[in-house]
Amino acid sequence: MNNVPQIVEINEIIKETPSIKTFIFDWDMDKFGVPSPGEFVMVWNFHNEKPMSISLIDEENSRLAISVKNVGEFSSQLHNLNVGEKIGIRGSYGNGFSNDIRDKKILAIGGGVGMAPINAISTNLLKKGNTVDVVPAAVTKEELLFADSLKKSGANVFPCTDDGSFGFEGFATDCTIGLLEDRSYDFAFVCGPEIMMAGIYNILEESKINAEYSLERYMKCALGICGQCCVDNTGWRICVEGPVFKNDKINKISEFGKYRRTASGIKQ
Ligand code: FES
Repeated sequence: MNNVPQIVEINEIIKETPSIKTFIFDWDMDKFGVPSPGEFVMVWNFHNEKPMSISLIDEENSRLAISVKNVGEFSSQLHNLNVGEKIGIRGSYGNGFSNDIRDKKILAIGGGVGMAPINAISTNLLKKGNTVDVVPAAVTKEELLFADSLKKSGANVFPCTDDGSFGFEGFATDCTIGLLEDRSYDFAFVCGPEIMMAGIYNILEESKINAEYSLERYMKCALGICGQCCVDNTGWRICVEGPVFKNDKINKISEFGKYRRTASGIKQ
């Protein structure tokens, strides 16, 4: 881990969807360690700093990537960057997903840009001989993230879109119910809008499938110091005890699927 922002040059930018871009940069894994899927980095654009999930861990070529949805001022500034320009990166932070799983049947579900850490864990688990069924969910076909690349990597991909423009028509919850009618899984990984994750949690609990869920909260320090990312009622810090929680822990977080706090601590 490295707590001082390292200034890195953007090597490659991939326009994944109309609103999501992937930024690839070199990362000294000998010096800073190899991040685990599900961990995040703090990205500094020399004006502001925000947490971003790692979407690709390329150990062979010492490269990392983040996939960023253009939703506000900071992400829009990132989207305006070009190859060759620089950003600051510190981390990686957080606990990450369990990735020491072999020869199992895995279900991985990602809503929108929540597919970023799902891509990292799915790619990792495919290399370990697991069968990985992935449900990338998006509002519309153009916003589906990593569906094609994961298919090429050997995952069974079950895309779903709210508007039915590609794959299953409807939400990730309904798509998951359909999959569970004739498939069984040893473990699941979930990331996306919290309302979606809360729905998936109920479905997987009913089917007695253990799972891990990646949460997102407003972060300032990412070091466990400021308390900004603490969740009710456990006080767990998303940046240290999270962002990933197993099903037997996530049900102790009373705000899960209900609300979150803004930068000033107000519930929304
Ligand atoms: S962001 Fe400061 S404690 Fe988590």
